[in-house]
Amino acid sequence: MPFSFRTKLTFWYVLLLATLLAAAAVFLILILQRIAERKLDATLWVLGATEAEGIAARMRDRQLQSPDDLTINDIDYRNIPGYEQFPVQKYVTVVNAAHRVADFSVNLPSDSPLPINDWLLTRALRGSVIFETINVPQVGRVRMIYTPVINHQTEPFVVIVAVPTEFVGVEVGYVARRVGAIILLVLALAGVSGWLLARRALRPVVETTTALRRINDQNLHERLAEPHTRDEIGNLIAVLNELLTRLDNAFDMQRRFTADASHEICTPLTILKGSTEVALLEPRTTREYEALLRSNLEEIERVSELTSNLLALARADSGETQTARELLIFNELVADVHARLLPLAEERGIEFTLKSNELVLVEGDHQALRQVVFNLASNALRYTPRGGRIELAVALTADNFARLDVTDTGIGIPASALPHVFDRFFRADNARAHAPEGSGLGLAICQAVAKTHGGKISVESVEGRGSRFTLFLPATQT
Ligand SMILES: Nc1ncnc2c1ncn2[C@@H]1O[C@H](COP(=O)(O)OP(=O)(O)OP(=O)(O)O)[C@@H](O)[C@H]1O
Ligand SMILES: [Mg+2]
Repeated sequence: MPFSFRTKLTFWYVLLLATLLAAAAVFLILILQRIAERKLDATLWVLGATEAEGIAARMRDRQLQSPDDLTINDIDYRNIPGYEQFPVQKYVTVVNAAHRVADFSVNLPSDSPLPINDWLLTRALRGSVIFETINVPQVGRVRMIYTPVINHQTEPFVVIVAVPTEFVGVEVGYVARRVGAIILLVLALAGVSGWLLARRALRPVVETTTALRRINDQNLHERLAEPHTRDEIGNLIAVLNELLTRLDNAFDMQRRFTADASHEICTPLTILKGSTEVALLEPRTTREYEALLRSNLEEIERVSELTSNLLALARADSGETQTARELLIFNELVADVHARLLPLAEERGIEFTLKSNELVLVEGDHQALRQVVFNLASNALRYTPRGGRIELAVALTADNFARLDVTDTGIGIPASALPHVFDRFFRADNARAHAPEGSGLGLAICQAVAKTHGGKISVESVEGRGSRFTLFLPATQT
């Protein structure tokens, strides 16, 4: 099973904290060690100086010239009270100017003085105090000091004093262990509290996930419980609810569209079936058969047109933009539609005029755009009674759009229907009464085509007084 977000969050949080704490601890321990080392060196310097001063004093007392004739004042530390508490010893070796060992303390192994570094010794004999840390066989790791004795009474020599570093090391190690334990405790507490906190913070997410899982296409109207806080999660839930609303609407529209489409296709098919069945009941004359076929052809044409309209809409829905993109003279396109419909207008006693003064170019699919103009003009014809007037007017707007106004003096559109005229299958009641044929897809297709061309269609209308549909398309510079 993959790790939950909560586990990962806690893990990274603890890891980060551990890294930071460990770095801080290492830094702290290094500082402590440095302080301890400086303290040890100071102590060592005092020890070296005391030892050297003691030896020099005794040599003065006995008027000795060379440390070779001297015996070190030895102490058996184990007999001194407090040794059990601080089992530390001081090791001493005295070296003469010729780099030879003059004497060394009895607590060193009987045949081995402290190892001498010749180079350091040479420097010491020139007057420098020198510190060195080395491993001494049978003694262990020690910190040494070379203390030179240079005066007029004796020849120069060097006193080397060493103490085990163990004592300092133990102290730093002790601190390191304690700090390590504290860090582990802090990490454990941070881990547990981080885990609990993450659970609390993520609870709305878990609840939302469960709620979302319940929602499917059957109960799309259900919404998630919105928290009162407007934080990130509150916002997420609000956005999800908006998304659900949009999905719900889209589903609804799709369902209605499918129902309407089936209904529209069913009607002519039922008529076809019925009339054909009736015709087959008894023998008919050729004339009767001809009439039947003619009326059947009309119904077939209706279905055919409907399906091609539905196909056009489906294409627009799928985001398929127009394939052709040719340069078109918009005036010609409109004039062509005008010429095509003029006989029909005359037949119906409608005055049908064209106003097209300035040259307007557009770019797009010729077939599709011609269909748009044709649909708008035929709507005007269909919904304008005898004696009315229709005008097509082409113009170029200031912001460089091609503009076509289709103005009629027809039946108009009721205010309540106006927002819906571009909806699929929508037909206003007055339109149904005036012209029973029509499926309500024409304007939906027009709007879709206009949009794929980067334009739009708007409408103004007053019921009983006429309508004006305006098509805008991006114009091409001449
Ligand atoms: N010029 C107009 N005058 C009055 N009403 C109109 C006009 N144009 C459109 N309408 C209204 O808008 C509705 C939708 O128009 P649309 O062209 O989409 O469908 P239709 O003309 O009814 O059918 P078809 O699918 O055959 O075009 C019409 O039914 C009508 O109510
Ligand atoms: Mg129409």
